[in-house]
Amino acid sequence: MNIHDSEKVIGTLAQQGYSQVETPEEAGLVLYNTCSIRDKAEQKVFNRLQNFKKVAGKGKVFGVLGCVAQQEGEKIFDKAPHVSLVVGSASYTKLGEMLVQIENGERRVTGLSLDTEETFDTPFTRRDNPNRAYITIIEGCDKSCAYCVVPFTRGPERSRTSESVMAEAGRLAEQGFTEIQLLGQNVNSYQDPSPAGWDFATMLSKVASVPGIRRVRYTTSHPRDFVKRIMDAMDENPVLCDHVHLPVQSGSSRVLAAMDRLYTRDEYMRRIDWIKSAKRKYSITTDIIVGFPGETDEDFQKTLDLLDEVQYDSLFSFKYSPRPKTAALEMADKVSEEDKQQRLLVLQEKQRAIQIRRNAELIGDIQEVLVEGRHASLGQWIGRTSSNRTLNFTHPDVGDESLMGKYLPVRVTRSGPNSLVGESATVV
Ligand code: 5AD
Ligand code: SF4
Repeated sequence: MNIHDSEKVIGTLAQQGYSQVETPEEAGLVLYNTCSIRDKAEQKVFNRLQNFKKVAGKGKVFGVLGCVAQQEGEKIFDKAPHVSLVVGSASYTKLGEMLVQIENGERRVTGLSLDTEETFDTPFTRRDNPNRAYITIIEGCDKSCAYCVVPFTRGPERSRTSESVMAEAGRLAEQGFTEIQLLGQNVNSYQDPSPAGWDFATMLSKVASVPGIRRVRYTTSHPRDFVKRIMDAMDENPVLCDHVHLPVQSGSSRVLAAMDRLYTRDEYMRRIDWIKSAKRKYSITTDIIVGFPGETDEDFQKTLDLLDEVQYDSLFSFKYSPRPKTAALEMADKVSEEDKQQRLLVLQEKQRAIQIRRNAELIGDIQEVLVEGRHASLGQWIGRTSSNRTLNFTHPDVGDESLMGKYLPVRVTRSGPNSLVGESATVV
């Protein structure tokens, strides 16, 4: 989502006459788009800002965008006095005006209001990937997971009209993009504000039927809002990729309740059953937090059991990081840093073994890949499967640049924990 926000900001600036340079050294205006989901991400911003302190004022203007900007607000000016612009994502629609203020010599400009009904849509988005285009369909989040800073930094949910989403999808297809990824902090709770009144399942089906679009993905889902209709829509149209990312966070219903996740382990497993009993085979991935306040060894064991039960194809795992304003900040029974670290290692080790086994089962299969790049030194092309796996493969015409962006059948010949290797195949 942040990558796409940057694409929108860059497109907007280019439209206003700015041009992009390769390095911060060459730039007159340096904007940092920031993430505050965990403390580490936030610390990075302040470290980077320090790197340029010396050159500030010498024809260079600095701005901080995104969630750290929203969270820290004017405090950023105290921590990094060479910064002139602090803007949260809910104010990006006004970014153009704010830059005019900066050009007129104002030293401190802020955009920190969360009081908006708007989403940041622009026809000038610069697209970095030649095949896959992102479309934001909903911004903000109305949930209140006890660990999460997003509702405070991105504000309440606002959905775009189905008409504007479909117009963007149609334009992208005409421009030659073949894959669309629909984005939202909680993409499942999309609700068309126009009279058409589409829900997320309808939106998925409609985007998947745009001529020229061969793959549709979406991120990220909340299990509570992942209704059966979504799975039915996916099963009906293979353009909707063979992959569901369904963040569970913990395998213990007790911890899930403390996190205010609004589902139990059993309710989560019901959704996994829908996915596993669907017509097609889907890859299932998740996010897990270890060391949430009050998480006991027994709770953690339940998360490990869940990994055995679900057999995820991949997962993102994080140590709990206390965030400002969140409910978990005040919770008792903090887990020590050592225990968090230990649990993270145990979890990742277990998942690695699962992935080695699951990927090995794919040897001999033929999968369709979208060609996304090349490892020239290895003589391999980089492909991505519908299930979102990386499948590197050899092709007889290895020097042929024209494979980029193509969809090709590839036979899997080898596997590792994180990727597959194969060779170009012709389907009989
Ligand atoms: N600490 C650790 N991980 C977090 N996430 C969100 N907030 C926190 C936090 N405070 C993780 C969740 C979420 C993913 C995007 O980041 O697992 O799904
Ligand atoms: Fe954060 Fe996702 Fe929970 Fe919203 S649903 S509060 S974005 S973890």
